[in-house]
Amino acid sequence: MTGIINWNELWRMTRPHTPDMKTQGEYDRERAKWFNETVKTHKVRTEKQIVPIELDPEYTVLDVGAGTGRLAIPIAKKVKSVTAIDPSRNMLACLRANMKKEDIANIACINKRWEDIGLGVDVMPHDVVIASHSLAILDVQEALTKIDAAAKKSVYLFTFVKGIRGLMWLDDGLWNEIYDGNYQTWSDHAYLSNILHDMGIYANTKIWDSEFEQPYDSLNEMVNYWKELYNTPSEKEEILTEYLLKMSVEKDGTLYLSGKSKSAMVCWKKNHECTGKVHNI
Ligand SMILES: C[S@@+](CC[C@H](N)C(=O)[O-])C[C@H]1O[C@@H](n2cnc3c(N)ncnc32)[C@H](O)[C@@H]1O
Repeated sequence: MTGIINWNELWRMTRPHTPDMKTQGEYDRERAKWFNETVKTHKVRTEKQIVPIELDPEYTVLDVGAGTGRLAIPIAKKVKSVTAIDPSRNMLACLRANMKKEDIANIACINKRWEDIGLGVDVMPHDVVIASHSLAILDVQEALTKIDAAAKKSVYLFTFVKGIRGLMWLDDGLWNEIYDGNYQTWSDHAYLSNILHDMGIYANTKIWDSEFEQPYDSLNEMVNYWKELYNTPSEKEEILTEYLLKMSVEKDGTLYLSGKSKSAMVCWKKNHECTGKVHNI
């Protein structure tokens, strides 16, 4: 039931729209390769992320928006099998190459958007469902309803505090200068918790600090990446460039951008044997 605030509609309104939402999950080959190489350097972040997920050698895990397998691969080593869903062929190509390198055979890949997955048709329910930084979906309530239905034991969603904006921990003053105070915090964990609450799912939230370092071949590449991600107005590009230069260091011809973010996990356990829905972790 929707409360006074329609969180799903707010999510939809603050989601940056691409001209064709069907292509939003696509990463071209270069970008997928860059993402793959970058996240390989995020070992500590990845290990921290997996620790709270309840896994068992007998479990099946569904990874919604698995990308290059940053989580699917280490999880596959601990469970019976993983199903990796992703609409990007290029991200899945990296995942398959990573599987080969690590000699992993228990991941099945499905090249589809979560919205287009038929539960019971394309995918059967799994013990655990995860979705990490991948809910680039307009009707997130519908996506969450399907995620809940796809899980037999528990669900773990990961995002950043302040959503996509939280990925780069810009101080509020600078955000206001670039976006005139208007930048929306799409994909903030608070939306997910509130939408779930309205669905009768009382999820737990855990927040922790994480640090990252991202390599770029040039200043141009770095500016273009962030400009595109945050839809930065061209007249504000200079401020963004200055900030990125200040936050990055050059080592052997590569620019490394360091940042801090707050990660959020929203999770719930399923226990349909109790009266009503009881979700606790
Ligand atoms: C930032 S990457 C995260 C990948 C991985 N989960 C991780 O944490 O490293 C986001 C992924 O979500 C996928 N994605 C985007 N829209 C999606 C959708 N509608 N359904 C499923 N996956 C989607 C993208 O193709 C991409 O691989």
